[in-house]
Amino acid sequence: MDIDRQRLSAAARAAVEASYSPYSRFRVGAALLCPDGTIVTGANVENRSYGLTLCAERAAVAAAVSGGHRSFLAVAVFTPDSAQAVAPCGACRQVLSEFAGPQTPVLMRGSADSRECTLGELYPMDSLQDLKDRQ
Ligand code: THU
Repeated sequence: MDIDRQRLSAAARAAVEASYSPYSRFRVGAALLCPDGTIVTGANVENRSYGLTLCAERAAVAAAVSGGHRSFLAVAVFTPDSAQAVAPCGACRQVLSEFAGPQTPVLMRGSADSRECTLGELYPMDSLQDLKDRQ
């Protein structure tokens, strides 16, 4: 299936509108492309405990899996409050790797910069890959 990067990035951009980020004032939107063409989005959800904050990427994964989508062909992250494109945090890299392979494109866009790499570049030497292959 062809990856429509523009459509996926636009979904991440729209998702940022739902960001609940009163503490950091750093809005993040994420979008996941599923094999059937469905795009599932998420926004960061902060908490006054700070530590219980949920990143946009993991919010999107939870929404997707809850909706029956367990495989992602591409990921987009939009961070309008940063000029530079921001890469998913370590926890999100691991959670994304549960449902996406090392070749999966990860599109990142800030207000003045965008970049793309693969999930394998962000999360190399995935030592639990063999466990996943047994699923
Ligand atoms: N955040 C994300 O949602 N995704 C990222 O990739 C980086 C960080 C959120 C967590 C927190 O709400 C805010 O951005 C500042 O770290």
